Amino acid sequence: MAIERIHDVVILGTGLAGLRAAMELSLKSNGEIDIAMISKVQIMRAHSGCAEGGTGAVLRESEGDSLELHAWDTVKGSDFLADQDVVERFVELSPKEILLLEHYGLPWSRREDGRIYQRPFGGHSFPRATMAADKTGFMEMQTLYDTLTQFSNWTNYHECFATDIIIEDGLFRGITVIEAKTGQCLLIRGKALLIASGGTGCLYGFTTYSQTVTGDGQALALRAGMTLEDVEFLQFHPTGLVPSGILMTEGCRGEGGTLANKDGERFMANYAKEKMELAPRDIISRAETTEILEGRGFEGPDGLDYVHLDLRHLGAETINKRLPLIREVTMKFLGLDPILEPIPVRPVSHYAMGGIETDINAHTRFENIWAAGEVACGSLHGANRLGTNSTAECLVFGAVAGHEIAQYLKKKKTCPDCPAQRVDTIEKEIFDDFLKRNGKENPYEIRRQLQVIMDRHAGVYRDAAEMQAGLNKIAQLRERFKQIAVKDKGRVYNSNLFNVLETRNMLILAQVLLMSALKREESRGAHSRRDFPKRDDEQWLKHTLVTLQDGEIKFDYKPVTITKWQPVERKY
Ligand code: FUM
Repeated sequence: MAIERIHDVVILGTGLAGLRAAMELSLKSNGEIDIAMISKVQIMRAHSGCAEGGTGAVLRESEGDSLELHAWDTVKGSDFLADQDVVERFVELSPKEILLLEHYGLPWSRREDGRIYQRPFGGHSFPRATMAADKTGFMEMQTLYDTLTQFSNWTNYHECFATDIIIEDGLFRGITVIEAKTGQCLLIRGKALLIASGGTGCLYGFTTYSQTVTGDGQALALRAGMTLEDVEFLQFHPTGLVPSGILMTEGCRGEGGTLANKDGERFMANYAKEKMELAPRDIISRAETTEILEGRGFEGPDGLDYVHLDLRHLGAETINKRLPLIREVTMKFLGLDPILEPIPVRPVSHYAMGGIETDINAHTRFENIWAAGEVACGSLHGANRLGTNSTAECLVFGAVAGHEIAQYLKKKKTCPDCPAQRVDTIEKEIFDDFLKRNGKENPYEIRRQLQVIMDRHAGVYRDAAEMQAGLNKIAQLRERFKQIAVKDKGRVYNSNLFNVLETRNMLILAQVLLMSALKREESRGAHSRRDFPKRDDEQWLKHTLVTLQDGEIKFDYKPVTITKWQPVERKY
């Protein structure tokens, strides 16, 4: 029998968006709103802590930057798929978040004059990456967490694996989790739910993500009847360290780092003459892939051919001051000192532009459910996100969601009940079905093969035959998954069971990504098709919507919101 816990608000995910929402709820209610914070890892282990390069915000209007310019850069970067009302709201709120964290004590990097330093980043027309060296996400997490500890209105359900979101009659009723330390199933109820559980990057084998980022929030939402939007748009960051995939921040290029092929040529001159290494990520990832495919890359291990990221000309002082993590990582993982040698890099899975459909207020189609951060798709990034707009999005829309939920709670005094029978069915599925499986298939092998499929069939360049072949292979994996074995039959800290449930989530999300991508017969932003190489605004200036109905994946579309900027050719 599940143990029931009741709170005012349930937050799934304790990264930047979840923490920022909890802060806002606490501030708005003077610590009165009772919050459940659920995470499958320990609270400060959320992947947001790995964000490196900076948070995008306009702080220097007197020096030539403007909200309008940040909005335009974002819309153009999105290949005109971003909802422009959302973009305008975002750029307006983002500077406030920087100043709020400044007041809470975040150690932003500084200029000589003592003011906050901002560095250039890809696709931005002005330096607006606000940073704490190359450990920005960690410092933001730490500052929010420290500040949150002044309140005692929140309960930490960490190391709790969420299995299902229960929705009945259009209302969130509860979320079931398995508590790792006891193996007990908990039903956590609330008047409102915020999903803030991060991205889907581990669908791919070569990834910047922590191994925990398996898209659980998106998969739970889909299974619960919610809508996913634009999941075909998966961002490849141009500089993943070979062979581990660890992020070599775009801040490297923001500080002046360059890219070269094996002939020593700065090849970006052939792809984005003006912006060069500071073009948006989709363009640089395609350029690198082309260089490698045409034989101008270096031969890497396991087919991971690469190009060079060169920081040597920046000098030791800049590298040590602005990019200390990069130096530490390359030295520890490769024994390579970037002061002396170029770094081997290639495009790497980095960010999901799509996610749970929300409106401008981070609200989903369900009365008491919100989503914020990477798990959500408020259509801020469209087909391609600009670097630094992600941590900024988590802060801005975490705050927006917190505010909206606090308003909602003023009207809702009671917590909707949750049918016991639904919880029984979920518990039976986990403990009487999954936990008891003794089939011949190794779930870790299935996960590994899925990642190989995604690397190969849903990469930087796509075409119909490749994607269909990928879908066929995923269908086979889904069949094999029915025959898996869960070797650990215990209840306590059963990571084997959690990994199986993650793999179930990954299989459905991979299928949805490839199906959405196959349907979109154009090239836009990060979705680049060899068989449809042009953007097609006539047919495809619209968002993809996906739901699961009686086990079937269904598609629908909705228009893009355009306020000021009509689509034009995207040149850099
Ligand atoms: O390159 C980076 O530091 C990544 C930043 C981002 O994804 O926004």
